Amino acid sequence: MNASRQDPGRRKAPSWASYRSSIGDRSELFATLSGVRRPTKALYPGSYLDLSPSTAIPTVTFVDTDRRAARYFADDALVRADLQGRTLPGAGIDISFLHTDYTTPLPIPPASFDLLISLYAGPVWEHCQQYLSPQGWFLANTSHGDASLAALDPSLRLVAAVHERDGRYRLNTGDLDHYLIPKRASAADPDTIRHQGRGIAYTKTAFAYVFTAVGNQH
Ligand SMILES: C[S@@+](CC[C@H](N)C(=O)[O-])C[C@H]1O[C@@H](n2cnc3c(N)ncnc32)[C@H](O)[C@@H]1O
Repeated sequence: MNASRQDPGRRKAPSWASYRSSIGDRSELFATLSGVRRPTKALYPGSYLDLSPSTAIPTVTFVDTDRRAARYFADDALVRADLQGRTLPGAGIDISFLHTDYTTPLPIPPASFDLLISLYAGPVWEHCQQYLSPQGWFLANTSHGDASLAALDPSLRLVAAVHERDGRYRLNTGDLDHYLIPKRASAADPDTIRHQGRGIAYTKTAFAYVFTAVGNQH
């Protein structure tokens, strides 16, 4: 049993429930993605406590160096309690956590995931793209620069923009050529984005973007 739950005098250990109350619930984001093309296996480097993908996806591997995240995911009963009543049918079956640095080789086979998630976590694409299947989707936002780097990668193309409003998520698959147009063309430089660790400003904004390999029809 988790030590903090044995001693009511101590602060409650952080969980998805507590994290969700500060960042919001992203379950609908993954339900919306699943509604378009149901991912079965997702990899989420830099997940911290964001369990939301498991509400819509059967198998999710979470990766983080943070000790609080490691403690949380080690407490299976707490994770299951957090998911209780929140999963779509067939979701949340396999949940695993790797307490490691995603920039180092991960103990998972190449091309074994059909969704790679990069939200507020750094250059996930550069370090984890080998784990995504050729037909897979890469979900990224610009916060730490990852979607901006993906936009400059000729091996990727945009398949959807994700919009968020008041906790509701919507996928836009039309007018994609209106997105990821830099406000300042000179800012679209991969080395500068990497160095600064943040994305660039675009003429039209979105919460996140979905990319897939060039040549993939889906
Ligand atoms: C700002 S939090 C975002 C958490 C979550 N993705 C979200 O959107 O709410 C970034 C997380 O990425 C983790 N992280 C950053 N670099 C990492 C790395 N190289 N390997 C593993 N985890 C990393 C941090 O420990 C932290 O928990």
